[in-house]
Amino acid sequence: MKISVIGVGYLGATHAICMASLGHEVIAVDVDPQKVALLNTGVVPFYEPGLTQLLGTANAQSNLTFTTDYSDASNCDIHFLCIGTPQTENELHADLTALENAFESVIKIAKPGSLIVGKSTVPVGTAQRLATNLAERKPGVLLNWNPEFLREGHAIADTLQPNRIVIGANTENGAEALANFYKLVSPEAPIFITNFPTAELVKVAANAFLATKISFINAMSEVADATGADVTLLADAIGADDRIGRKFLGSGIGFGGGCLPKDIRAFLARADELGLAESLNFLKEFDLINQRARTRAVALALKELGNPKGKKIAVLGAAFKPDSDDVRDSPALEIAETLHALGASVVVHDPRALESAAAKIPELTYSDSIEETLTQADLTMHLTEWGEYRALDPALVKKLVKVPTIFDGRNVLDVAKWQNAGWKLLALGRAL
Ligand code: UGA
Repeated sequence: MKISVIGVGYLGATHAICMASLGHEVIAVDVDPQKVALLNTGVVPFYEPGLTQLLGTANAQSNLTFTTDYSDASNCDIHFLCIGTPQTENELHADLTALENAFESVIKIAKPGSLIVGKSTVPVGTAQRLATNLAERKPGVLLNWNPEFLREGHAIADTLQPNRIVIGANTENGAEALANFYKLVSPEAPIFITNFPTAELVKVAANAFLATKISFINAMSEVADATGADVTLLADAIGADDRIGRKFLGSGIGFGGGCLPKDIRAFLARADELGLAESLNFLKEFDLINQRARTRAVALALKELGNPKGKKIAVLGAAFKPDSDDVRDSPALEIAETLHALGASVVVHDPRALESAAAKIPELTYSDSIEETLTQADLTMHLTEWGEYRALDPALVKKLVKVPTIFDGRNVLDVAKWQNAGWKLLALGRAL
């Protein structure tokens, strides 16, 4: 099938490359000529495991074209809108400007009988508004809303073997064509066909629920700090109940990234517009708990160091999570930035995110050598749980640092191993 993918960020580039690898003819359109040029030379402009290799395969190379010209996509049967909806500056709601512009451009070139599929995360009510606009302007072109659940770091698997497919449609805009398309992509995945608002809400509700789980366990971490309990054992024990589950009960410095934080805020803003502020008020608290996890980490570092001026802090990790170079709303980077602003001499290491971190916070010192980062450190802070940090040999690392004290901001290091090697381990919500 001939399809277009509009927007080649994390979601769009992954969708375009995966669909081309399955044999679809894909025209990927983006307004950023630099991104388009890079992708046309086989370079993915961000780090996602396996994606560059998949782009290099014969199928992707022969089926995929990146362009800045929307008219190249005029012959396509399906147009997938994969445009970011970031948080509006200094406000809670999502900024739909880029999405609306892309939608306008697609309306102009879409041929009769084609289908526009919104994959972007949008406030509930958006799809119906766009569908009404479309019906007036280009009758015969249909709209579906098909939220995306891919996780950075697992984007290929989540696209090719999704755990569910949700298609928002209405009487005029049937779901059959898109359901048939996805049956070929992933015959196993259950398909939920819903109305527009349900599809929009599934996405934000899923992210709100994940954020809730993380903030819930970080609230328990605050209680554990005050009472001498251990939050990781508490998570293991409550998570053993499969009605609760252990996933997303990882306590520590909390969630970040381009999705969870902005999605719960946009959900709050939309609830307010709908007169439902009370219904979602709990998300405000969970956002605050999440912010507090970062300030608790800074406070712990300061308690340990005393006056931070002139003290070297080795920060392991800048990305908002491992297997990604994304530093949007990264707890690790915010903690590093705060400690730097307080006068500490902070050196940040990350296996993949140094470039994006330096572009965002240029005033920090970055190093691509773990050894250099740790040398003579007064405090080591493990803030993003990359596999290589977990694999460090505490006895060897101890020889590099000035003071063998490590803060495990993700509660994943092997406590006994580090303590037996002579380290003092610090953590949130744990009596170590
Ligand atoms: C999230 C959702 O998991 C995806 O399903 C969704 O499609 C995506 O947002 C999106 O809306 O596009 P992602 O942002 O890639 O995916 O990251 P997550 O794996 O959800 O992690 C988010 C943050 O929570 C990270 O900072 C991570 O370190 C943190 N986290 C995760 C915890 O602090 N504790 C945990 O137990 C799990």
